[in-house]
Amino acid sequence: MKQEKSPFEPDETASSTGMRKGLTSYGDQGFSLFLRKAFIKGAGFTDSALDRPVVGIANTGSAYNPCHGNAPQLIEAVKRGVMLAGGLPMDFPTISVHESFAAPTSMYLRNLMAMDTEEMVRAQPMDAVVLIGGCDKTVPAQLMGAASAGIPAIQLITGSMLTGSHRGERVGACTDCRRYWGKYRAGEIDVQESVDVNNQLVASVGTCSVMGTASTMACIAEALGMTVPGGASPPAVTADRIRIAEQTGAQAVHMARAGLSIDRILTPEAFENAMRVLLAIGGSTNGIVHLTAIAGRMGLEIDMAALDRMGRETPVLLDLKPSGQHYMEDFHAAGGMATLLRELKPLLRLDALTVTGRTLGEELERAGPGFPQDVVRPMGNPIYPQGGIAVLKGNLAPGGAIIKQSAADPRLMEHEGRAVVFEGIEDLVNRIDSDDLDVAAEDILVLKNIGPKGAPGMPEAGYIPIPRKLARAGVKDMVRISDGRMSGTAFGTIVLHVTPESAVGGPLAYVRTGDRVRLSVKNRDISLLISDEELASRARQAPVQEPTAERGYRKLFLQSVTQADQGVDFDFLRAPRMVGKTPR
Ligand code: FES
Repeated sequence: MKQEKSPFEPDETASSTGMRKGLTSYGDQGFSLFLRKAFIKGAGFTDSALDRPVVGIANTGSAYNPCHGNAPQLIEAVKRGVMLAGGLPMDFPTISVHESFAAPTSMYLRNLMAMDTEEMVRAQPMDAVVLIGGCDKTVPAQLMGAASAGIPAIQLITGSMLTGSHRGERVGACTDCRRYWGKYRAGEIDVQESVDVNNQLVASVGTCSVMGTASTMACIAEALGMTVPGGASPPAVTADRIRIAEQTGAQAVHMARAGLSIDRILTPEAFENAMRVLLAIGGSTNGIVHLTAIAGRMGLEIDMAALDRMGRETPVLLDLKPSGQHYMEDFHAAGGMATLLRELKPLLRLDALTVTGRTLGEELERAGPGFPQDVVRPMGNPIYPQGGIAVLKGNLAPGGAIIKQSAADPRLMEHEGRAVVFEGIEDLVNRIDSDDLDVAAEDILVLKNIGPKGAPGMPEAGYIPIPRKLARAGVKDMVRISDGRMSGTAFGTIVLHVTPESAVGGPLAYVRTGDRVRLSVKNRDISLLISDEELASRARQAPVQEPTAERGYRKLFLQSVTQADQGVDFDFLRAPRMVGKTPR
């Protein structure tokens, strides 16, 4: 009797697709497929559905993450797009991380989310993956994970929240959160007003409405070519955002059919475009750490000297808070990234491929000519003449440090002052508001032990508050230095990411109150004005004990996390060898 071909015949070739991909090991591949199909049919699927290209959808909806509060609507629209294009959508949960609901800090969990994303994309059968992310650490975590997993991947941003209105003033998280908290600390508003404004700062689900890290990473994802055109800017609760979700689902199917894998998109040219955009939007300093980590997964190093050079020739064009005055919804109304990229066109690598299978240049052509608006400035009339971020070096930061100059007080960019040192966050909390604190407006505040290993997790505590007695006297800004990060929504003359960090014995560990410190943004210099001999003698007298942990994720973290110049990724997650630099 002639044997019929079994529908459970495994396909052992590297090109196996859909439900046949990555079969579970039972020692019998045919049985593995037989079992897999039996289980999935328990959910009511037909063979016809199971024969289609499978698009995984990384669902990061969580009650703890209001920035992803529209995830159910987005997933529905992505599924519609996938099915309209002839694919089979399969959503699956991954870790979701929100800035305010992650202790000790969301950055501590970014790499865990990246590992979760990578391994679930690898473990489950899918021909392409849609990554739904938005809140600060989620998009970088997903791009890091997807870069390592290597299959076709496309980013879907959840979108920004709407702005609120407080006593006639438009407000939005989180620049205005900090501004109003500062007013409350300085005694300028009373308790009732602090409660009232607290109800208005986050007017809907979605990500922070200013150019914080979430908006920065949304723009970077589009600049990298990882979203459909226009994917960065639509607010979370708009029809435009839902349409982007449907398009994303459909595009994922096209990518699966074409085998358009992520390594063809995350090229040195794509990272160069992302760096250019980061500078031109006055983006969050966190963007550098995340880009470094994503590039590291592709075996690429970000050339910080080149970034600084690019900064000198790339003006800040986007007039968004905290560098400017508008909010993300205004950027969207002004045409979003197409408007910005059109202005930046002479500085871009237009040949970089995007998820549509077309180049960035081709997509810009398709976007048309633009229209009058006042959110994206022309190159001839920028809101800040140089890129928002300058890269500093000096004996205080041999591995580098950065400052967001577009959000800093111009009068403090060239400044020498007396260091007032805090040994860690607890010390800061205990003393910063004391009337006995010996501090003057021209002093330099130095905070240690908030680097990758120090806190741990490099918290956004680099925005050291102005000591209460100075805030009450009207002081709005001081030079502040730390090995930590700062929220992209913050502003001030703040030196961040000092590398190596104090917790591993970087020079920052040996600064003492009373030392003189010099900041010169013009010369890209951050220096501790003591001799090399004195610095070495202090290190000998009180050598630093690196933090350790006995078990669990904390142990893995402390053993494996790299410094800011390597993206604070785990050393074993970076590409096994570096293959080049970007820009090349
Ligand atoms: Fe989620 Fe700001 S807290 S984007």
